[in-house]
Amino acid sequence: MAQAAELHRPATLTVRPSGAALAADIEGIDLNEELQPAQVAALRDAWAQHKVLRFRGQQGLTLDGLIRFSRNFGPLDQRPKASMAMSREHDALPPEITVISNVKVGGKPLGALGDGEAVWHTDMTYNEIPPKGACLYSVEVPPAGGNTHFADMYTAYETLPEAMKKRIQGLRCVHDASRNSAGELRLGYEDVTDPRKTRGAIQPIVSTHAVTGRPCLLLGRRRNAYIVGLELEESEQLLDALWAHATRPELTWTQEWKVGDVMMWDNTCTMHKRDAFDPGSRRLMYRTQIAGTVAL
Ligand code: OGA
Ligand code: MN
Repeated sequence: MAQAAELHRPATLTVRPSGAALAADIEGIDLNEELQPAQVAALRDAWAQHKVLRFRGQQGLTLDGLIRFSRNFGPLDQRPKASMAMSREHDALPPEITVISNVKVGGKPLGALGDGEAVWHTDMTYNEIPPKGACLYSVEVPPAGGNTHFADMYTAYETLPEAMKKRIQGLRCVHDASRNSAGELRLGYEDVTDPRKTRGAIQPIVSTHAVTGRPCLLLGRRRNAYIVGLELEESEQLLDALWAHATRPELTWTQEWKVGDVMMWDNTCTMHKRDAFDPGSRRLMYRTQIAGTVAL
């Protein structure tokens, strides 16, 4: 009987892989609705397999809906303290919501990251336990630019030459906490002029994914990174080589935003970057962050 019921259960969602190294579209669900346990399980599997998921057509999603949906994947972080005075509209939002936007209200920013390029990074790896992932929901998108690129750090590791895999085995790197991906200095930090003095968590260059158990490259951010114990010059050369390898186009996939898209990325096996866009146009996105539970 149970088996017959299984067979007759309607399809709960469709996973459509991008065909690139990572990313899949999820179709057939409304993120405002409470998900069934089978749907959550299917999404967890798809997330582990494709690393980045996209849900299009979610224009009706409320902020409470975004928070509720995100909690299916773990407890949420509260938004980080902004590096500047934000608009009142920003400060009134639920604490789980971070705004990513260039929009200003009354001369003060509504969100973070402005309109410039946000260079390749993994979120908050300068903390001992970085977030597990994030959901980014687009409400306004510029007519051009502002695309977000994702890179697959499993494949980045797997495609390294064997000699390089041996060379980086057991090495650890300092992840700079002083500046965000838009290059802004964070509150309470001073500029780093010597990477050997960088402040931030020390992470393994090769980490093991908490769910899949597979090895992946963990690079964080290039700026001010330093491989502990090496001569500075040697560290710079090794990092440059790893970064060039890990950001090759064949490891990446690009999100061209439409209003109502929700992107959900696994922060522990991917990197992302955002292109600049015309400061005269508006981009408004709401983000939740799924808290990390383990060191990488
Ligand atoms: C982020 C981020 C990129 C974007 O929210 O962590 O890097 O496309 N956003 O806005
Ligand atoms: Mn980011």
